Amino acid sequence: MFAFLGPNGAGKSTTIKMLTTVLKPTSGEIRINGFNALKQQDEARASFGIVFQDHSLDEELTAYENMTYHAVIYRVPKKRKGKQDPAGS
Ligand SMILES: Nc1ncnc2c1ncn2[C@@H]1O[C@H](COP(=O)(O)OP(=O)(O)O)[C@@H](O)[C@H]1O
Ligand SMILES: [Mg+2]
Repeated sequence: MFAFLGPNGAGKSTTIKMLTTVLKPTSGEIRINGFNALKQQDEARASFGIVFQDHSLDEELTAYENMTYHAVIYRVPKKRKGKQDPAGS
């Protein structure tokens, strides 16, 4: 687990946006799982996942159902969605 902490305005959101290829850095190079985040944007994006913050989770759904829901709306290919829910729901 990695904690990324800093006061407001320190640049946390900006750094995360650059790491997730949403924002282009003004200089330097970013490598994500071996992919150049600028030149291999699709490959870099496909190599990581995002856990949404609390407010975007539906409390009526299980953790697995929340993940499946986000996988569907972000059009994650079915074969990448992982194994069936171990709880069988
Ligand atoms: N490395 C940086 N150099 C210059 N400005 C930066 C840098 N990183 C972030 N900023 C600017 O600082 C402000 C706050 O950044 P932000 O990422 O929102 O901080 P945080 O999420 O830590 O509160 C934004 O206006 C952003 O554009
Ligand atoms: Mg922020």
